[in-house]
Amino acid sequence: MLRVLGIETSCDETGVAVYDSEQGLMGHSLYSQIKLHADYGGVVPELASRDHVRKTLPLIHDTLEQTGMGLDQLNGIAYTAGPGLVGALLVGAAIGRSLAWTLDLPSIGVHHMEGHMLAPMLDERKPEFPFVALLVSGGHTQLVEVAAVGRYRLLGESIDDAAGEAFDKTAKLLGLPYPGGPELARLAERGSPGRFRFPRPMTDRPGLDFSFSGLKTFALNTMQRELAPGLKLEPELAEQTRADIARAFEDAVVDTMVIKCRRAMRASSSKTLVLAGGVSANRHLRERIKESMDKEGVEVFYPRPQFCTDNGAMIAYAGWQRLRAGQCEGLGFGARPRWPLEELSPLD
Ligand code: KG4
Ligand code: ZN
Repeated sequence: MLRVLGIETSCDETGVAVYDSEQGLMGHSLYSQIKLHADYGGVVPELASRDHVRKTLPLIHDTLEQTGMGLDQLNGIAYTAGPGLVGALLVGAAIGRSLAWTLDLPSIGVHHMEGHMLAPMLDERKPEFPFVALLVSGGHTQLVEVAAVGRYRLLGESIDDAAGEAFDKTAKLLGLPYPGGPELARLAERGSPGRFRFPRPMTDRPGLDFSFSGLKTFALNTMQRELAPGLKLEPELAEQTRADIARAFEDAVVDTMVIKCRRAMRASSSKTLVLAGGVSANRHLRERIKESMDKEGVEVFYPRPQFCTDNGAMIAYAGWQRLRAGQCEGLGFGARPRWPLEELSPLD
């Protein structure tokens, strides 16, 4: 029996959870710093670190209370060691490692994107290895061939903005508050599909890389043309145009991902696709990928929406996988703001 406390502090969310071999996810808590950063229109790294300092211990307390157990009933500690904001990561690492030392428990630094990738396994219906994963978050857009935990081969990635970053920047252009991704998705629900057509970047050439920064410029140009002050649009008409632009942007991102996933699955011997990371919470993306993969005979797995964005549960689970295999680290700890997924070690 192994019961692992997971701590996530890589960006603007403090997440804590306990995962147990027999009982699965026993409890989890999340604190979002959205309000703290909203006035600045984006994450301020120093403020993020300080807030993690304030929130991590109380959240550990809350999570243990939820599960009705004490620190002495834990057998291992996992914390996000990268990639992410270095100050924010160091808070979780310092707390996780010190707690492990005091309790005389093994601990492990988890790769944030491995956490995202394994998040669907928190549910009953789990994907089986090997599979292909599309990881789409605020900092990463990657297609990865996954043979097993720790056996990763990068098939393609974004050569510029990550998908979430493109959502956030375009949302900002549309005057939506931070964090823009979910706000843009909400606005797009009211948009009419097809009024504007945005390009599907890098789909006209072979390969599995992505590029999203041009879409943001396309959105800006469309806005300048369609919402120019000289046009004196009625407020409702202007609002509809903003929604139509949001819809056109979302459709372009989703279509591009569908095309690349289809291509990746046709080249792979696996018939399983995992979709994970913050952007995988997007309803249209989930539906369209599912629809397209059904036709290809590919089974799709994504985390439940609450575990698509950053959370402690995925870190507890990924840490549990590694600690269970006997991996743990020495007394030192660190953080890796940049950390290629392919550098991770396999379980055996
Ligand atoms: O995985 P995540 O929580 O943090 C990182 O590891 O970066 O991903 C956050 C990203 C943000 O860019 C956010 O705008 C985007 O995921 N996001 C969404 C949606 N929910 C979150 N993008 C589009 N549609 C959504 N529903
Ligand atoms: Zn994340």
